[in-house]
Amino acid sequence: MRKDWIAILDFGSQYTHLIARRIRECGVYSEIVPYNIKAKELLARGPSGIVLSGGPATVTFQKSPKPDPGIFNLGIPILGICYGAQLMAYFLGGKVSKAKEREYGRTILRIKSKGDIFKGLSPEEIVWMSHGDRITKLPLGFRPIASTENSPIAAIENREKRFFGVQFHPEVVHTPKGGIIFRNFLFEITKSKPSWDMKSFVKETIKNLRQEIGEGKVVCALSGGVDSSVLTMLLYKAIGKRLFAIFIDNGLLRKNEVKVVKERFRDMYHINLITVSAEDIFLKALKGIIHPEKKRKIIGRTFIKVFEEEAKKLGEVKFLAQGTLYPDVIESRSPWGSPSATIKTHHNVGGLPPRLGFKLIEPLRFLFKDEVRLLGKELGLPEEILYRHPFPGPGLAVRIIGEVTKEKLEILREADWILLEEIKNAGLYKNLWQSFCVLLPVKTVGVMGDKRTYEFVIAIRAVTSLDGMTADWAKIPYEVLERIAHRIVNEVKGVNRVVYDISSKPPSTIEWE
Ligand code: XMP
Repeated sequence: MRKDWIAILDFGSQYTHLIARRIRECGVYSEIVPYNIKAKELLARGPSGIVLSGGPATVTFQKSPKPDPGIFNLGIPILGICYGAQLMAYFLGGKVSKAKEREYGRTILRIKSKGDIFKGLSPEEIVWMSHGDRITKLPLGFRPIASTENSPIAAIENREKRFFGVQFHPEVVHTPKGGIIFRNFLFEITKSKPSWDMKSFVKETIKNLRQEIGEGKVVCALSGGVDSSVLTMLLYKAIGKRLFAIFIDNGLLRKNEVKVVKERFRDMYHINLITVSAEDIFLKALKGIIHPEKKRKIIGRTFIKVFEEEAKKLGEVKFLAQGTLYPDVIESRSPWGSPSATIKTHHNVGGLPPRLGFKLIEPLRFLFKDEVRLLGKELGLPEEILYRHPFPGPGLAVRIIGEVTKEKLEILREADWILLEEIKNAGLYKNLWQSFCVLLPVKTVGVMGDKRTYEFVIAIRAVTSLDGMTADWAKIPYEVLERIAHRIVNEVKGVNRVVYDISSKPPSTIEWE
């Protein structure tokens, strides 16, 4: 049983994952568990503290998500945040009512008691509020420890039971001292020891992987991206030559990508790398296809078929390793499901269906992306892999508007190579979320050496973003844009015009398809 970890009961707040991150940043492992986890199960898993997350519901509604009341009798310290604080008040005999005015945004918190949870804070601090309901009567044994203009009871405590509730959100950056509140909860109240770092994660995970896999063989799909590279390295460290990494060259990759992956993983790390040249199969399947979602589906299906055939050739392989990350795990079991409508079927491409009959291994399923990068560093992977721009599963196929052909792929590959080279030379690569070229299905007139040309247009797309959900078009210096355009038109046969995409997301998306 893991000691010193925090269980976060997820009541559906959009910030729940931030709570997990803040706690891990303090060096204490945290895990998001379903809101209705049984108290008995929780006790058996022995967390040192419990956090009740926020959520969009109203506690007094019959159908709103409620925890097992037994969690309040386990003798484990609890921190309730927003809806979580209201739940605590409601379950222990207090009252929660609709506030006259919704409180939203930056607010001044007036702290009455600086002990325990607010240790080290000033009498007034800025916090982030987002609520419509509020605690109007305290449960027995509790006292108010802070207020705001609209919430006379903005924080509560029961020191004896070590229960604390805050109406505001300490996990968001808009609560500048939120980190201190978490540290107080972790180290003063739950007395947790900081034992979560990548060194111990590697040690523990390798031990567990060896135990689970025994003498068996494992197959994984390597794309050269961050997640699959880290996954491959981790498994290789655990089981060495019993790992088989399949790298499918679908013909939709960037220039030199196949070469670089082979050189690194096969020649340098000596990993069993199986490269499959499947360009013809993919291009044949994509022939005549124009619709972006159709392209995605075809590429996804073809990938599975090719992977399956290759894996079969390996004989007896029991396990399939996949680089699923924590945000996907959280999203798939949030009490509200995933609220976002399908704009693009992004994350299905590359996922392998259960019918393949492997036993699934997902050693990254509790990690956030930045933790995966730290893990990769710990495993000795270079920065050029760990800080690569995201590259979509369907690859260049969604950057060629309209039908994908070999000729267009060649043009796009060359243009993209130039763009990346110039972006890197200008020292801009790390500041951008993504930068790439898009090949448009139109030809325009140009003039070169006194001759009329009639060739394709390349669009440059470069964005800054924190998570890809929203993005701003990057204000790349004119001189850099000029150099890129000049080189593309001069060096890439078939292109006589370059344009720059100045739309942000939303309303546009990052990829053009
Ligand atoms: P959009 O274009 O929706 O993209 O703004 C957001 C992020 O997702 C990536 N993306 C994909 N990734 N398969 C993937 O694995 C896909 O089909 C796909 N489509 C978009 C995109 O590159 C950006 O980082």
